[in-house]
Amino acid sequence: MSKKTFYITTPIYYPSANLHIGNTYTTVAADAIARFKRLTGYEVMFLTGTDEHGQKIQRIAEDKGVTPKEYVDGIVAGIKELWTMMNISYDKFIRTTDDYHIKAVQDIFKKLYDKGDIYKDSYEGWYCTPCESFWTETQLADGNCPDCGRPVEKAKEEAYFFKMSKYADKLIEHIENNPEFIQPESRKNEMLNNFLRPGLQDLCVSRTSFNWGIPVTFDEKHVIYVWIDALSNYITALGYGSENTEFYQKYWPADVHLIGKDILRFHTIYWPIMLMALDLPLPKQVFGHGWLLVDGGKMSKSKGNVVDPVTLVNNFGVDAVRYYLLREIPFGADGLFNNEIFIKKINSDLANDLGNLLSRTVTMIEKYFEGEIPAPITKDVLDDELINLALTAPKKVEDAINALKIPEALEVIWELIGRANKYIDETTPWILAKDDSNKERLGTVLYNLIESLRFISVMIYAFLPTTSEKINEQINTETTAWNSLSSFDGTSAGTKVNKGTVIFPRIDVEAKLAELEALREAQIKTMQKSQIKPIKEEITIDDFEKIDLRVVKVLSCEPVKGAKKLLKLKVDLGGEERQVISGIAKYYKPEELIGKNVVLVANLKPVKLRGELSQGMILAAATDDDSELFVVNPGELPTGNIVR
Ligand code: ME8
Ligand code: MG
Repeated sequence: MSKKTFYITTPIYYPSANLHIGNTYTTVAADAIARFKRLTGYEVMFLTGTDEHGQKIQRIAEDKGVTPKEYVDGIVAGIKELWTMMNISYDKFIRTTDDYHIKAVQDIFKKLYDKGDIYKDSYEGWYCTPCESFWTETQLADGNCPDCGRPVEKAKEEAYFFKMSKYADKLIEHIENNPEFIQPESRKNEMLNNFLRPGLQDLCVSRTSFNWGIPVTFDEKHVIYVWIDALSNYITALGYGSENTEFYQKYWPADVHLIGKDILRFHTIYWPIMLMALDLPLPKQVFGHGWLLVDGGKMSKSKGNVVDPVTLVNNFGVDAVRYYLLREIPFGADGLFNNEIFIKKINSDLANDLGNLLSRTVTMIEKYFEGEIPAPITKDVLDDELINLALTAPKKVEDAINALKIPEALEVIWELIGRANKYIDETTPWILAKDDSNKERLGTVLYNLIESLRFISVMIYAFLPTTSEKINEQINTETTAWNSLSSFDGTSAGTKVNKGTVIFPRIDVEAKLAELEALREAQIKTMQKSQIKPIKEEITIDDFEKIDLRVVKVLSCEPVKGAKKLLKLKVDLGGEERQVISGIAKYYKPEELIGKNVVLVANLKPVKLRGELSQGMILAAATDDDSELFVVNPGELPTGNIVR
């Protein structure tokens, strides 16, 4: 009989130089599940990879003066290193720049076109002629080209569209009839009520404004929309659309697509509709896990609070990081990453509970039995309690993982660890050791502890593989088989233990926190240095003299109707009144500006923005990502004064 199979995927990652702890979370969780399934008898396909096409990548590569492929090659190598460091046991790593993937995506596109589900049309938007780029209304910056700031004109661009609405009813029905399809449950209603029931629009699935993408074979100036390209990876990785479809036959449909909640819509609406249009079965489940937050909310480069998995692993070891992610973050909900909680958790759960149980047990066997595991001979109700807990734990762990309740699975294991530690306190081996007539009882107690450790080691393997190996080394066992947990007698008496180093040294919380903080500050400094934009081409003092900067006072200020980003200011320039349209509505309320002095570029050629005349520009300083902005403050100088 053939083995049961299990297919789990992570999202394919955007090639970014530093994946943060949030990205790492998805992959670590998928790894734990994949390892667990292998352990419990499944043939597993665990897929991860990188999502390498799109305009953003093309731009970054252009800025760096390399080809997009050269750029992504370097990044992907780094991502693979990170997964090696995190002990990620993926079976396949797909890159959307792989030849077989490109070909299969082209076939998929063609198939949908031939079927009539993809059709050619055009849509209206805005064109920036100097940049030759096409923008939608929402992409414009204050009505201008978001790239160069110059005015845009109305234009039509041809594009291919996917008839999403054709499959909407069928998808709603599928979601309603298969409650396990979208998990957790709460996310299902969000998809139904916010997206599906209000009605789907046809999706634009090709672009002509850049070329770093998969070309449409029958219309080469179009590249295929990145999400169509990216989502297809889940089947192209298995050989769908190639000559060898063995893995596709074996593993599709996927058991679970594990993703962050931010990309749920793509996975529960676009992806199933693509599959329906291709007449392929839908994945059994899409699980949207929560967001990993830090103190102060989301991680962001400009706030300098991005948590770097490499730093954590270097300081605490990979299993400490894996443990925190898997145990502390409620699977499916948002969770917090905090250094102090992290270190305290290492000290309590890993150093104290697990580490001490191992070192106390092995030390006592060395001390009282010259390192040879004694045979169990006596019986006691205390033993039964421990043994029963051990024997019932594997099933509970398995049930929890099958329900994707990872923290709950770890709780079951830590309950056994706690019980075993309590067993030491209850049986007091050091007192038994004082009297030779208790030798058999002492031997039994120590055997039960070793056997408990063996259970623990097999059960934590999927979550903390390195720690499991270290425990096995010390208790001198090689069995990692899940079915060896069906009886409490897997350890052979007479086996020699190998006392090793402490598996989780206790950490000085205050000292370590200070060290991490210093490291963080140093990292921010280096990052800031590397991110300073290059200084522009040199100009002469005469060039500079051409720019007329003046102190002006804001007389009045109001929003521009129909333009969320714009404010209309009336300013006083030494008795002359000017009107300026400024894209600062996101940062200032009109009343915050009235009466303030600001600096105006006074000889800038007037332009019309959203039909309003703008005579000059107000100087401001902003962060790179425009999350913060401050207008330049010239103090209380008289209006009309020149700023030099
Ligand atoms: O979205 N906490 O890739 P990506 C938890 N290429 N998870 C987080 C997170 C956080 N703070 N930040 C990011 C993409 N993630 C697409 C996927 S799949 C066909 C294409 C998660 O590199 C995020 O939710 O931006 C996603 O699951 C994963 O990291 C990769 O994100
Ligand atoms: Mg993202």
